[in-house]
Amino acid sequence: MSVLRIYAPASSANLSVGFDSLGTAISPIDGSLLGDVVQIEDCDVPFELDTAGYFVRKLPKEPQKNIVYQAYVLFSERLKLRGGKVKNLRLTLEKNMPIGSGLGSSACSIVAALVALNKFHDEPFSKMELLEMMGELEGRISGSIHYDNVAPCYLGGLQLMTQSLGNICQPLPFFDEWYWVLAYPGIEVSTAEARAILPKTYTRQDMISQARLLGSFVHACHTHQDVLAAVMMKDLIAEPYREALLPNFAEVRQGCKDLGALAVGISGSGPTMFAIAPDLEHAQKLVAYLEKEYIQNNEGFIHICRVDNDGTRELK
Ligand code: HSE
Repeated sequence: MSVLRIYAPASSANLSVGFDSLGTAISPIDGSLLGDVVQIEDCDVPFELDTAGYFVRKLPKEPQKNIVYQAYVLFSERLKLRGGKVKNLRLTLEKNMPIGSGLGSSACSIVAALVALNKFHDEPFSKMELLEMMGELEGRISGSIHYDNVAPCYLGGLQLMTQSLGNICQPLPFFDEWYWVLAYPGIEVSTAEARAILPKTYTRQDMISQARLLGSFVHACHTHQDVLAAVMMKDLIAEPYREALLPNFAEVRQGCKDLGALAVGISGSGPTMFAIAPDLEHAQKLVAYLEKEYIQNNEGFIHICRVDNDGTRELK
C-alpha cells in the first residue's frame, strides 16, 4: 500500500510593508519541521479522516468543520466537474502548528491537504488552479480571501500577490542571508478578529506613504539593497490597530531594534512577532530577549529561521 506524506512549511505574511500582498515561507535553521503534514493512503471506504499532532486538540470537534475535510470536499467537487474520479482514501492531518499564531497555520493544513490530494490523483490540477482553491478555503476561515500565506507556503520563497494575467502571485528575489527570529507568545489571535478591527477607510497620506514603502521595498529586492528593503518594512495599515492585541508589543519592538534587529513587526495577523537579524550572533541575542519579554506561557516558542525556498514538499 502506498503512503504519501506532504509537508507544508510555516509562513510569515505581510512583512509589515505589504498587507495581503507579500508573504514568505520560513523554516528553522536547526532543521526541525515547523509546519503541518498530511498523509494520504488507500482505503476500503470512500473517505476517512484522522488527526494527530500536538495541536490537534485545538481543532474543531466536528470533522465537517475541519479545514482539511473541506479541502477534500472542494477538491472532489472540482475533480468531478472535469470528469475525474475521486479515489478511496484515508487522509491524516498532523497538526503541528498552533492555531491563530500568525505563522500561517491554516494555510499549512490547506496547502498540505490539496497538494497531497492532487498528487494522489496524478496531478489533475495546475499550480494556479490549486492556489485558487487554497485561497478560497483560507477565505472561509479568515473571512476574506487572501493568498499571502497559502502562496509562499505552497511555492516557497517570498511571493508578491500580483493577482493578474493568470498569475495569483510571482516570486521576488529576496535576502536569503537574513535570520528571521519568530516569537510566538503562546496566546491565540483569530485572523478574522484581527481583520475585523481594521478601519474601513484610510487617509490619503497613509495610502501615499504605504505605496512609497511597498514600491521601494520591491525595488530594493530587485536591486539587492538589503538595508533599504529592511528600512521600508513599515506598516501603516494593520500594525497601529493590531498592536493592542499583542502583549507589550511597542516596548518589545523597540527592545529588538535596540539589539540590532534590521526590521521588527507582526507576523501575519499575530500574535507572533518577527525580528530580522543580520547574523546569528544578533539572532541569538534577540532570542534571549524575546524569551524573557514576549513569551507568555509554556505553549509559546521561538525559532531562528531562514526563508524556505522549497515550499511544500513530499517527505520520503
Ligand atoms: N494578510 C493577512 C492578515 C494574513 O494580515 O490579515 C493573515 O495571516
